[in-house]
Amino acid sequence: MRSPHLSIVVPTFNERENILELIRRLAVVLADKDYEVIVVDDDSPDGTWRVVEAAAEQDPRIRLNHRIGRKGLSSAVVDGCGVAQGQRIFVMDADLQHDEAIIPDMLIRLEEYEVVVATRHAEGGSVGVFAWYRQFISLVATWGVKLLLGVRVSDPMSGFFCLRRQVFDRVSSELRPRGFKILIEILWRAKIRNIGEIGFHFRARTAGESKLDS
Ligand code: GDD
Ligand code: MN
Repeated sequence: MRSPHLSIVVPTFNERENILELIRRLAVVLADKDYEVIVVDDDSPDGTWRVVEAAAEQDPRIRLNHRIGRKGLSSAVVDGCGVAQGQRIFVMDADLQHDEAIIPDMLIRLEEYEVVVATRHAEGGSVGVFAWYRQFISLVATWGVKLLLGVRVSDPMSGFFCLRRQVFDRVSSELRPRGFKILIEILWRAKIRNIGEIGFHFRARTAGESKLDS
């Protein structure tokens, strides 16, 4: 069985308008790489899983994890990472807010760091449309991680990051995924201090709705 070098895990809930565009963009950016895209969909009422299923029939690099009776962003990320075959695992949103163009740079940094976080606060980054209460939560998270791990991560709530497969394997059985803070949990359980960061411009969502705001 072929096993790709890179796995991109994409959690989805009602992203029918976005997911195929993301898959197309990934195919362009990763044209020279051996990769798979794992879409973890929680039985979206808008039928996201249907369009992914059809795409997967055309392209063996696309895999669908259609979860029924299970819900939640963090657990979707953990399930996706659990079936990933690559040595390098990426996690990103489906809604095109995460800039896929920085993936090759993140991959290069992953040679040096165990985890690389794409952050909205570092140089070159931007918070975009980002409500004050979310900035506040992010501030508390940054402070908490600093206290727990002794390292400063500018955006520990980021849903865009990559890690070496061994890091995930080391902690996968201990993860108790809840809510939106899966990156913090992985960093904490694996006691990761070797963290790289890359800034990016957080785009505005053009289709579908944010689930975190609600
Ligand atoms: N499978 C699954 N199950 N996917 C989900 C669920 C769920 O219950 N909830 C959300 N998603 C998917 C969305 O479809 C999208 O692809 C991604 O997870 C992020 O969800 P959004 O609803 O777009 O989140 P956001 O843009 O408001 O929040 C972003 O910033 C947060 C920090 O402030 C995300 O990047 C979060 O990951 C991040 O923690
Ligand atoms: Mn979003």
